[in-house]
Amino acid sequence: MKISEYAKHLLRSESLEDKLMPPTNVWEEEESISIRLEKPSRSKSIQFSDKKIKIPRLEHLNLASNRGLTLHHFANHELMAIELFAWALLAFPDAPKSTKIGFIKTIEEEQNHLKLYIDRMNHFGIQFGDIPLNYIFWKQIGQFHSLESFSAVLSLSFEGANLDYSQVYAKVFRYFGDHQTADIMLTIFEDEIKHVKRGLRIVTKSKPDDQDLWTYYQSLIQFPFTPRRAKGYSYLPDTRKLAGFDADFISKLGLYEDEYTGRVNQESLKKFQINEVLLRKNRLDSIANLS
Ligand SMILES: [Fe+2]
Ligand SMILES: [Fe+2]
Repeated sequence: MKISEYAKHLLRSESLEDKLMPPTNVWEEEESISIRLEKPSRSKSIQFSDKKIKIPRLEHLNLASNRGLTLHHFANHELMAIELFAWALLAFPDAPKSTKIGFIKTIEEEQNHLKLYIDRMNHFGIQFGDIPLNYIFWKQIGQFHSLESFSAVLSLSFEGANLDYSQVYAKVFRYFGDHQTADIMLTIFEDEIKHVKRGLRIVTKSKPDDQDLWTYYQSLIQFPFTPRRAKGYSYLPDTRKLAGFDADFISKLGLYEDEYTGRVNQESLKKFQINEVLLRKNRLDSIANLS
């Protein structure tokens, strides 16, 4: 199979089952022709929707149904990530082979994340597609002029923010005694560190020597998309250290604010003891093994 055929399969097949088809590890040679698809094909139950659906508040995650709705929200992000990494394989066929193989590895991991979320939400009585699916990642394709801008938006921003979100939700799920769902969040956290690293490698490689990473990153994203989108409710700088960002970038991202900053209820974060100490997958495993 050619890489482009696999990418087209993920984008043009309508069913969720097809979008979960794992990649092979042998790829045929092919010509490089750039294709920019406007949107993915999706079956009726997983169509894009413009309906605004609010994610349940952290304080309400004591209810299993709200945990299910939250996971539905995250699962949507995973599906868009699968499709958009496939989109990038088609749009940037001249990317180095190692970059393409990295994206394929990312796709495989996003497929695993999607399955983990779906299994768990099913356990809470929610099916994927039960609530409207937004397409916020897909709305950014107009700013994907290059492999670097794609990585700046998708990996450094969205996947970067997910480093914060996966930590926050792992902590809140643990607070409510749901260690199984917390464990899923940490599995995903560990993978997302790798995804952000892959994106950071692409951006760093093309960074002009006379520019710092923070300035270069900002030149790759387009207003109204701002660095605020690269952070979760609460910013955990150590997660960015793990992903390999330099200290200057980490502190400037921390300080960055735009007109939408500060809408989060900081009090509710305090209630859940969302401090800057990170939970790690293997540490949680070792705690579980001791008890
Ligand atoms: Fe993911
Ligand atoms: Fe990811």
